[in-house]
Amino acid sequence: MPGKVQQPAPLSIRHVNLSYSHGFKRVFHRLKIRQKIVCGYVLSLGIAVLGTTAGLTVGDRYFQHARDQMSVADHQGNLLSRLQGALLEIQIYRQEVVAFLNQPKALQKDGSQLSAYLTEAEMLFSQLQEFGQSNSQKDLQTLLNNHDSTLTEYFQRLRVLLQKISSLSQNPNRISQTQLLLWQFHQSTAVRDFYKFTHDLADFAVLVHERRDRADAAQNRAALLQAQIISGSILLSTALATILALYTSHAIARPLGQMTDIAQRVTRDANFDLQAPITTKDEVGELATSLNQLIQLVNQLLEKQRAQTQAQLIQSEKMSSLGKMLAGVAHEILNPVNFISGNLIHAKNYVDDLLALVQTYEAEVPHPPTSVQALAEEIDLEFLIADLPKLLNSIEFGATRTREIARSLKDFSRLDEAEVQLVDLHACINSTLLILQNRLKTGINVTYKYGDIPSVPAYPGLLYQVFMNLLSNAIDALEEKSAVDSEFSPEITIKTEDWDSNWVKITITDNGSGIAPQNWDKIFEIFFTTKPRGIGTGLGLSISYQIIVEKHLGEMSFKSDVEQGTEFTIFLPIARSSTSKKKDTSLLASKPNKCIS
Ligand SMILES: Nc1ncnc2c1ncn2[C@@H]1O[C@H](COP(=O)(O)OP(=O)(O)O)[C@@H](O)[C@H]1O
Ligand SMILES: [Mg+2]
Repeated sequence: MPGKVQQPAPLSIRHVNLSYSHGFKRVFHRLKIRQKIVCGYVLSLGIAVLGTTAGLTVGDRYFQHARDQMSVADHQGNLLSRLQGALLEIQIYRQEVVAFLNQPKALQKDGSQLSAYLTEAEMLFSQLQEFGQSNSQKDLQTLLNNHDSTLTEYFQRLRVLLQKISSLSQNPNRISQTQLLLWQFHQSTAVRDFYKFTHDLADFAVLVHERRDRADAAQNRAALLQAQIISGSILLSTALATILALYTSHAIARPLGQMTDIAQRVTRDANFDLQAPITTKDEVGELATSLNQLIQLVNQLLEKQRAQTQAQLIQSEKMSSLGKMLAGVAHEILNPVNFISGNLIHAKNYVDDLLALVQTYEAEVPHPPTSVQALAEEIDLEFLIADLPKLLNSIEFGATRTREIARSLKDFSRLDEAEVQLVDLHACINSTLLILQNRLKTGINVTYKYGDIPSVPAYPGLLYQVFMNLLSNAIDALEEKSAVDSEFSPEITIKTEDWDSNWVKITITDNGSGIAPQNWDKIFEIFFTTKPRGIGTGLGLSISYQIIVEKHLGEMSFKSDVEQGTEFTIFLPIARSSTSKKKDTSLLASKPNKCIS
C-alpha cells in the first residue's frame, strides 16, 4: 500500500532486549562463582530492603496525611459538638423559663447558667472561626461568617429577654407577660435565623463526621498499601533470588555435567580427541580448561608410552634373537676349542716325550749318521726344541682365551633370563668388556677399581645390557673426542664399592666428549640421541634406567662436563627390598650365577 510505513519500533526493542540479554550473559559468564552468588544475594536483598523502605516511606506519608485529616476532623467535630451542646442548653433554658417563673431563686440560678452557656457558645464560635482560618476550612469559614451576625443578634436578644423576664418577677401577671415576651421572641427573625444556623451546624457536623470516616478509611488504606508494598518487594526479591539461584546452579551444573560426560566418555572409549566445551571464565571454565589439558597430556603420555613399548618390544626381540645367535655361535666355538684344549694336553705330553727321546738319542749317540745330522741342521733342531713348548703354550693361551670369549658370549646370550639370581657384578662387567674387546683395542686404557662387594640379587641378562649400554656410550664418547684431538689419551675407569649394608655402588667414568648441559634433562628420555641417524637409537639409557630403577629398585644418575667427561653411577640394593635392612634372599634362586671373570 502506498504510504504505508513499516513500523521499526518492535524490531529495535527486540534488538535492545537481545543486546541486553547478551550483555548480561557476557558479564555473568565472566564472573567467578563466588561473585555470581554474592551478586544474586546483594540484588535480592537490595530489592527487599529498598522495597521495605519504600513501602514504609510511602505508607507513612499517606498514613500521616490521613491522620492529619482525621485529627482536624476530630478537633473540628469536638468543637462543633460542644457548640451544639451549648446551643441546645440555651434552647432548653428558653423552654424552662416559664416553669421557674414562680421560683425566683431557681430562675436566677438558671439565668446565670444561661449566661455561662452563652459565653461558652461565643467562645466556641470564635474558636471555630480561628480553627477554620488556621486550617483553611473554607466551608466552615463560610458557614460561620454567614451566621456570625445571626448568633450575635440572637444572643443579644436573648440577654434582653432575660432582663425583661427578671424585671417581671414582682408583676402579678408575670406568667402571661413572660409568655407574651417569649412568643414575641420566638416570632423574631433572629430566632428563625438561629434555628437555621443550628440546622446548618448539624448538617455541617454530619459532613465533618463523614470526613472523619473518610480519613479513617484513608488511614486503613495507607496501612494496607504499606503492607502491600513491603510484601510485594519481599515476594519480588524472593522470586529474584529463586531465579538467580536456579540460573546460577544451572550455569554451574550444566558445564559440570558436560565435563563429567566428557570425562566418562574419554575413560570408557579411550577417545582422547574429546574436549570439554569452555563456556564461562569462572572456576568451572578453569576446571574445563584443566580437564582438556589433562586429556591432552594423557594422550601425549599414552602415545609416548605406546612408542616406548613398541621400541622396547623391538629391542627385546632383537636382544632375544641376538642372544639365540650368540648362544649358537658360542656353542659352535666352544666345541672345537674344547677339542683343541683337550688334545693339547696330550700333544704337550707327546712333544715332551719326543723331546726327551731326542735328548736321550743325542746323549747316547754323540756322532749320529751324516744324514741325521743333515736333517737336524735342515730343521734347525735346536731352535725347534726351544720354540716348540713356547708354541704349544701359546696355542693353549689362545684356546683358553677363545674359550673365555665363547663363555662370555654364552653368558651374554642369556639376555632374556627372567629369574632373579645372585650376580657377581665384577664377572658381568668383565664379560661385557671382553665382548667389547675389539672396540677397546683402539688404545683405550681401562682402569679397574674393584671393591670388596657381595653378589647382588639381579636379572643377569638385564645387567649385561646396562653395562653394555654404558660402556658402549663411553667408548662412543671417547672415539668422538679422539677424532678431533690426536693428543688425547682415552680412559675408562670402572669402580665398585660397598656403599653401606644395603647398597653397592658402581661408577663408570670416561674422559670423553661429555654431555652438553642443555641435554642433561633429556638424557634418559626414550629416543633421545645426539648421534647420527642410523648409529644412535636413543634407547640405551632409557632402557638402562628402566632396568635399574624399575626392575632392580636401584638408582641411576650421571654427572658430566664437556671438558672432563662423564660419570654414570648405579646403586643396586643388596637385598631385593632396598628399604629393608635384612637381606631378603627368599626371592633368589638357590644357586649363585657365576659370571665369567
Ligand atoms: N658417556 C657418555 N658421554 C657422552 N655422551 C653420552 C654418554 N652416554 C650417553 N651420552 C649421550 O646420551 C645420548 C643417549 O644415549 P643412548 O640412550 O645410549 O642412545 P644412543 O647411544 O643410541 O645415542 C647419546 O646420544 C649421547 O649424546
Ligand atoms: Mg647408547
